Amino acid sequence: MAYGDYQNEIYLNGLGGVVPEFPMDFAELEARAQAALPPSVWSYVAGGAGDEHTQRANTAAFRDWGLIPRMLVGASQRDLTVELFGATWPAPVFLAPIGVIGLCAQDGHGDLAAARAAARTGVPMVASTLSVDPLETVAAELGDTPGFFQLYTPTDRSLAESLVQRAERAGYQGIVVTLDTWVTGWRPRDLATANFPQLRGHCLSNYFTDPVFRAGLDRAPEDDPGAAILHWTQVFGNPLTWTDLDWLRSLTDLPLILKGICHPEDARRARDAGVDALYCSNHGGRQANGGLPALDALPGVVQAAGGLPVLFDSGVRSGADAVKALALGATAVGIGRPYAYGCALGGTDGIVHVLRAILAELDLIMAVDGYPTLADLVPEALQYVSSPRRN
Ligand SMILES: Cc1cc2nc3c(=O)[nH]c(=O)nc-3n(C[C@H](O)[C@H](O)[C@H](O)COP(=O)(O)O)c2cc1C
Repeated sequence: MAYGDYQNEIYLNGLGGVVPEFPMDFAELEARAQAALPPSVWSYVAGGAGDEHTQRANTAAFRDWGLIPRMLVGASQRDLTVELFGATWPAPVFLAPIGVIGLCAQDGHGDLAAARAAARTGVPMVASTLSVDPLETVAAELGDTPGFFQLYTPTDRSLAESLVQRAERAGYQGIVVTLDTWVTGWRPRDLATANFPQLRGHCLSNYFTDPVFRAGLDRAPEDDPGAAILHWTQVFGNPLTWTDLDWLRSLTDLPLILKGICHPEDARRARDAGVDALYCSNHGGRQANGGLPALDALPGVVQAAGGLPVLFDSGVRSGADAVKALALGATAVGIGRPYAYGCALGGTDGIVHVLRAILAELDLIMAVDGYPTLADLVPEALQYVSSPRRN
């Protein structure tokens, strides 16, 4: 797939007087999404923990690295494919799980929009536990594109088992267990408006449709939503420890991926416990402020992973960012907020555009700078550029 050809399509359309419907750069994408979303959804998606220093540091960290151009390579064909979990992905990029993506779409079904965008582009999707549409309905839109189910592990083990079994039956190809969100981080933007979407009953369909969850209620969620939401608050966040890992591993034969791993020692322990992949992320700076950009944690996690695949997200805004995370050892790179903004502007079409633009830039940088395959993107391809940052 020649992703860079997206630019030919755009320039050729221009000859007929047609300019792109969606923004070509992140700043405009963000600004237009802000205008398109209700203020409460905007601040929930765009906001982060504390004064959002970590969130800004995530994006700034990419500017500390530069890809060194190599000439006379003749990189006319690029190979972006990657083998992961027994499948071939067309590119080392995936949709990171975004609870409330459902609310980002103008029709209120952003989970389906994301799954359809995954189907159209071949970019795998990690579907959040927190969704407007149940995981089975989301999976049905994925076509042949791999889907992964992201589990917020409930305190009730039988509910966790039920969610994993449903994900298996629905055809998801792996379980991503998010470890950093058993409690919500301190988020001033949301606190200032006392806005927490789930407490208002949003994005709880996976719970409300679950037989185990429903069995714990006196009355069905349709008849008594307040009681169902209260029950959800009691089962949502499980402060897992290492002793829970054997149990988690026993839940499924699907690939098990731990999200939120930033310390090499945690990476080693997770590998020793038999997980299939690590997912280095600080949740986009939404959970804890404090300044360590996820990109800075990546090389240590990759080294400790001892050959296990390492997924990465937090701060990726462009193909140039993706190149750097790949060179620092990420097996695949997760796109987060950019696709939520694309969803706000154009549902499936908006997400498809965001993904195609990121993939086109990634592909064209590999062409221009002479790195035709992912194997060429090694740490030595980067030079550290000391820049005033961490604003
Ligand atoms: C609005 C929003 C909701 C999110 N919901 C989830 C979620 O349900 N599960 C999860 O594991 N991560 C969730 N994340 C974190 C993303 O998977 C990813 O780690 C993060 O968006 C990366 O940061 P970036 O978007 O700034 O690049 C969410 C992120 C955002 C912005």
